[in-house]
Amino acid sequence: MIRLVKASRTYGSPPIVALDSVSLEIGAGEFVAITGQSGSGKSTLLNLLGGLDHPTSGEVVVDGTHLESADDRELTLFRRTKLGMVFQFFNLLPSMTVVENVEMPLLLRGEHDRGVRKAALAMLEEVGMGHRAEHFPHQLSGGEMQRGAIARALIHTPSLLLADEPTGNLDSTNASQVLAVIAKIASRRTTTVIMVTHSDAVAALADRRIQIQDGFIASDSTRTH
Ligand SMILES: Nc1ncnc2c1ncn2[C@@H]1O[C@H](COP(=O)(O)OP(=O)(O)O)[C@@H](O)[C@H]1O
Ligand SMILES: [Mg+2]
Repeated sequence: MIRLVKASRTYGSPPIVALDSVSLEIGAGEFVAITGQSGSGKSTLLNLLGGLDHPTSGEVVVDGTHLESADDRELTLFRRTKLGMVFQFFNLLPSMTVVENVEMPLLLRGEHDRGVRKAALAMLEEVGMGHRAEHFPHQLSGGEMQRGAIARALIHTPSLLLADEPTGNLDSTNASQVLAVIAKIASRRTTTVIMVTHSDAVAALADRRIQIQDGFIASDSTRTH
């Protein structure tokens, strides 16, 4: 599903090596936590996997797409069909209701029939947000906004969900609701889930934990249930 071959990302001059020749394979349906200190390269890795950034050298292949050499058209297609992404700050469009936000990826794909609203409402039910569909983001708690963002990230049934510190800005109650949703999605094994987190407790939910240190993989362990 995912293959990195000696992927590096350096910034600026003199160069800061954010990711240092990382090789890695992740199988379809895996639930992986990426941990490491602030500045270790976690977001850089996730951004490469989402095609938001290109490696300075090496290969990044996700679900058959060579992201290191993909042009804008291929990247757009990749994001619209294969990728869902959520971030620490929820990035819902403030002028749209929750259900309109969730519909957006389908509208961008050119779907405009009545099935779009139905699918968005079903997805919101799925994340426990059916009762908030017609609200605007500012009317929601942080955890509700994040669950809305997750619904939007999943509406087009991507093969990969990337989450960069999805609970980093939430209190513990909201965080556990968001994590329950992510764990539920991961447990179905139809979507590969890769989640960056600072928290050992959060990382323990995943089946596999990859620790990043100074742009390297310091450890990579799979949990035996
Ligand atoms: N756009 C950028 N320009 C320059 N340096 C950057 C940029 N983005 C990240 N870095 C540097 O790369 C390293 C890794 O950053 P990042 O991947 O954001 O770490 P993490 O997500 O683990 O906190 C850090 O030293 C950071 O300062
Ligand atoms: Mg980060």
